[in-house]
Amino acid sequence: MRLLGLLALACALTTTAAQAQSPLERGRYLVETIAGCGNCHTPQGPNGPLPGRSLAGGMVVEDNPAFTAIASNITPDRKTGIGAWTDEQIFRAIREGIRPDGSLIGPPMPFGLYRGLADADVRAIVAYLRTVPPVPNPVAKSTYRIALPPAYGPPVGHIDAPPRTDKVAYGAYLAGPVGHCMECHTPMLPDGQRDTERLGAGGQPFNGPWGTSVAANITPAKARGLGDWSDAQIERAIRTGVSADGRKLFPPMAFGYYAKIAADDMAALIIYLRSLPPQD
Ligand code: HEC
Ligand code: HEC
Repeated sequence: MRLLGLLALACALTTTAAQAQSPLERGRYLVETIAGCGNCHTPQGPNGPLPGRSLAGGMVVEDNPAFTAIASNITPDRKTGIGAWTDEQIFRAIREGIRPDGSLIGPPMPFGLYRGLADADVRAIVAYLRTVPPVPNPVAKSTYRIALPPAYGPPVGHIDAPPRTDKVAYGAYLAGPVGHCMECHTPMLPDGQRDTERLGAGGQPFNGPWGTSVAANITPAKARGLGDWSDAQIERAIRTGVSADGRKLFPPMAFGYYAKIAADDMAALIIYLRSLPPQD
């Protein structure tokens, strides 16, 4: 009996150890998996992210009539990256889109959703960004032919993530503020705001070297959505970019990053997607 007790204690300790990630570990996990900052900020060649250039910026992320957006160098290089910024300045840039000089960071960085990131997660991301190798890489400025607002909203106060035990709420947090799945998969209203009545309904086009891909309907609608898909099929699509019918999915979804999403986060994501009102 005593042995069993010890075993139970050992198991309990291992589980807690796995959950008690340091902020640096948490930041590495978020940036390198579900947040996928590198999907925009790491320059890519024909074979994916360029080695040794992680988060060095320079990619034209979007070129449309309204703007030409070039991803910034967010490595700790002091001259061409964000190495001279304080932790607080980086924190504010990520969550509120405001640089140390007061200027606004433009789209398509998903600030509407990043404003909902928990304090602890932004701090973790900042801690990790401090540790990536600095890459000297001067990046041209983006051009915004539309007027940017003075801010994306009032200053954000303190935010905590929902408890992980609440799978739907935690899944919503992952699919929203952390992974910005809903930024791509929700249709836009004419005023450029996400149509929150139709979360996950898809339909936005994305142009790139691959041609045009259209964000899928990821609500539980039968036929048009994921209603007939098994959990394993949804997981395979997210992690490997292979659709239920075996078709290879096109970018810009960050499959390479999503491959390493933790199992419990993947489960929460899928539970959340299944909880959405089905949309046709
Ligand atoms: C959808 C693409 C996209 C994603 C995803 C994205 N960014 Fe950005 N980010 C950009 C673009 C484009 C800019 C430059 C905008 C401009 O020029 O105003 C930028 C600017 C920044 C800046 C300002 C840097 C400077 O020198 O002005 C920081 C800091 C930043 N991003 C951090 C992050 C972090 C951290 C993540 C992940 C949590 C992230 N970004 C995810 C596209 C993205
Ligand atoms: C940058 C935009 C973007 C982001 C972010 C994004 N997706 Fe996608 N997603 C797409 C596009 C576009 C497609 C369709 C690709 C195609 O048809 O080739 C797609 C396809 C899918 C599919 C396959 C559906 C089908 O019918 O084939 C699933 C499931 C999915 N996304 C879930 C997610 C989840 C979950 C997240 C967040 C972890 C996410 N996506 C983030 C753009 C995005």
